[in-house]
Amino acid sequence: MQSNPIGVFDSGVGGTSIWKEIHKLLPLENTIYLADSANAPYGEKSTEEIIQLSVKNTELLLSYNCKLIVVACNTATTNAIKYLRNTYADVSFIGIEPAIKPAVLQSNSKTVGVLATKGTLSSSLFHSTVKSHAEGIKIIEKEGKGLVPLIEAGKASSKETKTLLKTFLAPMLAHNIDYLVLGCTHYPYLVPVLKELLPKHVNIIDSGEAVARQTKAVLTKNSLLNTLNNKSSHRFYTNADVPILKSFLTEVKSTINVVYLDF
Ligand code: DGL
Repeated sequence: MQSNPIGVFDSGVGGTSIWKEIHKLLPLENTIYLADSANAPYGEKSTEEIIQLSVKNTELLLSYNCKLIVVACNTATTNAIKYLRNTYADVSFIGIEPAIKPAVLQSNSKTVGVLATKGTLSSSLFHSTVKSHAEGIKIIEKEGKGLVPLIEAGKASSKETKTLLKTFLAPMLAHNIDYLVLGCTHYPYLVPVLKELLPKHVNIIDSGEAVARQTKAVLTKNSLLNTLNNKSSHRFYTNADVPILKSFLTEVKSTINVVYLDF
């Protein structure tokens, strides 16, 4: 059981940003990653559709005997994790939510920007997180409409992406944010461009490391950490473009296997 893989899924390539944090912290763990790029972006879909897609991904990961499932997608977490936990009561799910709390605690200007998908920003989980952690803080939310398709197309640093980001950041900068929360797992791939566009005093924050730490904590608690000192194995499945998914994994040193699967 300890050597069973950790399952990770996202609407596409974005969750690889989370996978990298998990792999850095837990290099002995075997993993299976599902990039549901054929159905991206999830952020434009209804809650019912997001739940249906999350169930499909979960069923596939469970068929590979995954010992724990990481929902490496803010949109799927905020819309579907409650359903998943109720439906698969004996499975451990780790979710990801925008890092509102640490940003709010550290903000000096008391103004925090949040860039996320429509699906995340409109979810009740997001609203309740803001309500319970952001008292006395101004939260400037912006839907990153159009960003996920550009990242999925391998155009994270393109002119088009820069133009969109400028539009999204303008109202945040006008309100003097000093923290920008990346509320979508695709967005860490925008950090080089964001650093070009943002003044130096604006900190960029995401939840990747926190998810990795939580994954370790849950595996430890359930005595499921892989302690076998074998080389870990990593399978990446995409239902769209193999070279694109591979291009997000170029700096990974471990042996990885990226293949097409119709799921
Ligand atoms: N990577 C996703 C997230 O964290 C989903 C983006 C999308 O498919 O719209 O929200």
